[in-house]
Amino acid sequence: MTRTVGEPDMNPATIMRLGSAFAGAKVLLSAIELDLFTELAKRPLTRAEIQDVLKLHPRVTGEWLSMLVALNLLRRDGEVYRNSELCDRFLDRSKPSFAGGFLQRTNQVLFPAWVYLTDALRTGEQQARHIEANDMFDTPYQDPEQVEAFLTMMDSLTSTIGAQLGEAFDWSTVKTVTDVGGARGNLLSLLLKQHEHLTGTVFDLAPLKDPADKLAKERGLADRLSFSPGSFFDNDLPQADVLMIGHVLHDWAPEERQVIVDKAFKAVNPGGAVLVYDCMLADEEMDLAKLTISIHMKLMTPGGEEYPISEGVELLENAGFGPVEAHELGAIDTLLIGWKQA
Ligand SMILES: C[S@@+](CC[C@H](N)C(=O)[O-])C[C@H]1O[C@@H](n2cnc3c(N)ncnc32)[C@H](O)[C@@H]1O
Repeated sequence: MTRTVGEPDMNPATIMRLGSAFAGAKVLLSAIELDLFTELAKRPLTRAEIQDVLKLHPRVTGEWLSMLVALNLLRRDGEVYRNSELCDRFLDRSKPSFAGGFLQRTNQVLFPAWVYLTDALRTGEQQARHIEANDMFDTPYQDPEQVEAFLTMMDSLTSTIGAQLGEAFDWSTVKTVTDVGGARGNLLSLLLKQHEHLTGTVFDLAPLKDPADKLAKERGLADRLSFSPGSFFDNDLPQADVLMIGHVLHDWAPEERQVIVDKAFKAVNPGGAVLVYDCMLADEEMDLAKLTISIHMKLMTPGGEEYPISEGVELLENAGFGPVEAHELGAIDTLLIGWKQA
């Protein structure tokens, strides 16, 4: 049957493909879980060798490898498989450019949570079944393996933001910076390397003190980068010219976000500023990546979400900051700069 011009293509193939798009994602996530890309970075391997090294059953492995080739993640030359250039650079765990931390966490917690999207739509509730509501950090932080997985994810996100923040703000007159919820200090260490006159404090929960001290020492910053343990719900924040609050407010409900920003206002020195970055949504946001991240937050937390930029501005103004500026930060985030009058 021929189609007349203007008549929509009624072939359901696009819908069918979208309905199975999770398969491509899971093929990649399992490859990261099994460390396939790290093994192939050492040397190209045949299918039999891959099965042997990764201890895989032959039944599913053939299609899995072929899908990775079809997705341009692997190359196949005759009998041997090797990494694509992109995977070799970003998914080989032994390279400093390894960027798989977020995807590793996606495999462990986000993918299972999305299975319950329908439940979330019906109830509005958090669907991360491996954690109790409101226990997003305390119990997981008792397990060193989970701490390491979480910190690797944070590092993979903050590695690019560090350089971007270094340029998005005029640091020339700033002396001291506190990174609130700064994890093990990866971002702050990058900022301090870029601006050698700065002294920084990471404020985060006590279980991150040892990893943070280790990082500061390894990067030769022990004299300028310190860690202050505490909770932003129970303790005052360390005083500084600039307080940064990045990818933190989106973990919490609106009233909790206001508590954190109010504390930041108290801690910023007069004439200084607060820098808040999160994915943040435009009014009527239609960007698929941003909407996906906001649902991630709603599935993972009882009250968190990617909030509208206008609401972020309001949070800062309610606390006393003004004027408040909004800027794009990288491809996804919005940076709010709120000034505290001298
Ligand atoms: C999503 S991570 C953000 C890390 C980093 N700032 C970034 O830009 O990616 C949230 C951070 O908030 C910290 N955090 C959670 N609850 C906290 C609390 N009550 N007080 C201080 N830090 C907390 C976590 O330990 C974690 O490092």
